[in-house]
Amino acid sequence: MPNVSRRDVLASLGILGSSALLAGCGRSRASSQDATTTSVGQSRRTAGEDTAASPVDAAVRPSAVASCDWAYRPLDPAAVGQLAYDIYPQGSCMYSVFGSVVMQLADGVGEPFRSFPIDMMRFGATGIGGWGSVCGVVNGCSALIGLFHSGEGAREKREELIANICLWYESEALPSFQPEKPALDFEVAATISNSVLCHVSSGTWCKAAGCDPFGIERRERCRRLSAQGAMKVVQVLNDDANGQPEFVDFSPQVHSCIECHGKDNLRDSIGTMNCTSCHQFDTKHP
Ligand code: HEC
Ligand code: HEC
Repeated sequence: MPNVSRRDVLASLGILGSSALLAGCGRSRASSQDATTTSVGQSRRTAGEDTAASPVDAAVRPSAVASCDWAYRPLDPAAVGQLAYDIYPQGSCMYSVFGSVVMQLADGVGEPFRSFPIDMMRFGATGIGGWGSVCGVVNGCSALIGLFHSGEGAREKREELIANICLWYESEALPSFQPEKPALDFEVAATISNSVLCHVSSGTWCKAAGCDPFGIERRERCRRLSAQGAMKVVQVLNDDANGQPEFVDFSPQVHSCIECHGKDNLRDSIGTMNCTSCHQFDTKHP
């Protein structure tokens, strides 16, 4: 058998060339992540100082750097919340949370935010694709955190910020957002979901409010919850951008469950969701 390396095969298919292009994007993103307040113009100047290694690099790098600057810039939570409320009918919860933030950045910064295909976020409706799984508000907030902290080395930061969202969602009485002009004007009950799941969160609310899960009241509740989620993620991202990220810890109970069942002990359970929304022990735990 001829001795052909993986690199030769990739090169002959032209794959190395395109991965060089992607690597250009990755580098610019990693560098822009540390400087959240850097403007697009500044990062373009920095790129101009680099000496290009190859003709391919020289051709693609300036534009790749300019169009991949996904750094977050602090936004006004109230304005984003109202926008999320307004666009909710166009695409439901995840779309409105994610879209409101990206649209505000597109307004203030332009590219690359203007070109983000926010329509894709419609998959996060009624959980994921109608499955009632993770709530689109949690998913939309987390997708934004993922966009602004996408590096391989940013995992800890990502998980810390996502924990802020999940713990807020599980433990706060929601929604309390009051729109300027409510699409449906009624007293929306606020409930604690104890769960990041759409099925549990909506179900808990419907039971407390005495509303039909398929009715317009439940939709109005989710619309306000989306607005509030957009405000929450903006607040979390602003605090982080200002160098004051808030650290939120799990409840002592979840800590105790994980101490025994997590990776350092019994190793029979993964994840950090609120355990007691699914496991309840009437009297004694085995
Ligand atoms: C002091 C250690 C300890 C703590 C704290 C603890 N567990 Fe357990 N748990 C065990 C042991 C030991 C078993 C039996 C072996 C097994 O099934 O893993 C068990 C069993 C279970 C089971 C399987 C039950 C069944 O009927 O098969 C579940 C579910 C569970 N625990 C959930 C929890 C949750 C939720 C918490 C927190 C509220 C918790 N555990 C806290 C030690 C602990
Ligand atoms: C969304 C519901 C849900 C949540 C939240 C949840 N679990 Fe479970 N868990 C399940 C289901 C379903 C099973 C599988 C059926 C069963 O064993 O009861 C399970 C199984 C388990 C088991 C038994 C595993 C085995 O090998 O027998 C343990 C232990 C456990 N969970 C611990 C936890 C802990 C600790 C938490 C919180 C950090 C947690 N679970 C959160 C639904 C949940």
